[in-house]
Amino acid sequence: MSSLSTILQDIASLPSDRAMGIPGAFYTDEEYFHEEVETILRRGWHSLGRVDEIPNSGDFFTAQLLNEPLLIVRQSDAEIVVLANVCRHRGMPLAEGTGSTKRFICSYHAWTYDLDGILLRAPRMKNAGFESKNCGLYRHNSHIWNGFIYVNLSAEVKPFEHPSLTDLLSNYETEKFKLAHVEEEIWNTNWKCLVENFMEGYHLSVVHPETLHDYTPTGLARKLLTGYGFTSYAANYPKNTPQRGLGGPNLTEDERLRSTLFSIFPTQVVSQAASLLVSLSIFPLNAGQIKVKWTLSTYSNDLDESTIADRVALWQKVNQEDREKLERLQVSLSSYHAGSGPLAEDDYEGTIRDFQLWLAAHYQTKE
Ligand code: FES
Ligand SMILES: [Fe+2]
Repeated sequence: MSSLSTILQDIASLPSDRAMGIPGAFYTDEEYFHEEVETILRRGWHSLGRVDEIPNSGDFFTAQLLNEPLLIVRQSDAEIVVLANVCRHRGMPLAEGTGSTKRFICSYHAWTYDLDGILLRAPRMKNAGFESKNCGLYRHNSHIWNGFIYVNLSAEVKPFEHPSLTDLLSNYETEKFKLAHVEEEIWNTNWKCLVENFMEGYHLSVVHPETLHDYTPTGLARKLLTGYGFTSYAANYPKNTPQRGLGGPNLTEDERLRSTLFSIFPTQVVSQAASLLVSLSIFPLNAGQIKVKWTLSTYSNDLDESTIADRVALWQKVNQEDREKLERLQVSLSSYHAGSGPLAEDDYEGTIRDFQLWLAAHYQTKE
């Protein structure tokens, strides 16, 4: 166990009313990042996007999670699978970007796979050691929950189980939200910084004075449910806020008057409102860089096209405001003086504490 991991355990064992942040090295040290890849990232469930990005059989999109190129495909029976985007001949990726196909033909020597990853054809292969049935594409463990597609890169995977979060969200009918926008960007920040930033209400009024302060001021942020592997808080709206789409019929007054922000550790952060669902999937590239894929979805036909365009523009602005702060933060986190600072109380930064406890538990058990 590295000395940084020992520091993490010490910070996690502080009483919760004296919680402290973790020092800068946790966000900048490449060696520690490699430890995280093995202990946390390769063993966790990661959101890759929404099921309605690939509505029809043969539709696919690709992703790169850590060192693994992934091919996410809707099969003929409508099931979604996550395959290794790595040809079984000599390792070429089989597809790029997004698209729709009946089969995947490798661009190098034309080995051909069906939508299940079964090898259909390998031209001129007479080698006695070749058996087509042993050359299917590797299939990763995947799971669908609330319209999100998840993958776990570990072969010994713990099941994806979040019953209390499922209950918290049930009235929103998250699975019914329809995709309106997808965007990908590279941010120069550590993956944990974005999880922490998205999940704390403390910065809302300071960083987003024009975009979010009127909707979700810091002073109204309230911690919600936490459980193993997730945390959440309510970004409450002021009482006089006009209704922004009705959302599901079972939503309570409280649920309509807030955005429910949650994170499924380690890399997904989400804002769930009555009519709007924004999810960020974080793909860590190295200690100081991530790819962010974010999707914006709307409830049923609640919002018209121009309102959706306004919401997309608003979220682009909000994300840029956060990105600008996080990229500056990443530079100063390398400082010798970027130590462990006190966290604000539960309603504002208790979610950061939840994340910390989860990180520490993973290092302790190495599960
Ligand atoms: S690497 Fe794919 S066919 Fe050769
Ligand atoms: Fe923010």
